[in-house]
Amino acid sequence: MTGWLGNAYLWVKAFHIIFVIFWMAGLFLLPRYLVHHQEALGTPEAAAWEKREALLRRMILEPSIGIVWLLGIALALNVGLVDGQPGLGWLHVKLLLVFALSGYHGWAVGYSKKLARGRGGIASRRLRLLGEVPALAVILIVVLAVVKPF
Ligand code: HEM
Repeated sequence: MTGWLGNAYLWVKAFHIIFVIFWMAGLFLLPRYLVHHQEALGTPEAAAWEKREALLRRMILEPSIGIVWLLGIALALNVGLVDGQPGLGWLHVKLLLVFALSGYHGWAVGYSKKLARGRGGIASRRLRLLGEVPALAVILIVVLAVVKPF
């Protein structure tokens, strides 16, 4: 399927990047909400964080992760991932990192639902540190996608 996108290739890549930006905006925001939500447990403020998180999930995180994956797979087929094209080591590692980032997304959504039930569990400092994971992932993934070092 190498090159199957034809003239649409650059458009698909542009929208891939646009939705990556939306997804990352959501993934940078949600962990910060989780810290505030956890600190507000047992106060009336907790309900407001619960609402903000649900809105962020429904309006930003859920649509954008789906579209990024869809367009990303279209691009992966276009560059010949399933045709045995050589020189795609960067894409294999990128996919591994994106799988891990999608797992992180799932964990953050799960923790937000746990907080909505009034239960936290992770120490505040650790939760703040976990909030840095998406930034680290973005650095590695963008370098792999743009520089294609191997
Ligand atoms: C969800 C699964 C994803 C898949 C399957 C995927 C796959 C791809 C593929 C195959 C390309 C095209 C490369 C080319 O034609 O040269 C691409 C481009 C790109 N991807 Fe992804 N990607 C995914 C997620 C992400 C994420 C999460 C990020 C950033 C955090 C990202 C950032 C980029 C960038 C910046 C480019 C443009 C690279 C360039 O052409 O210079 N992608 N992606």
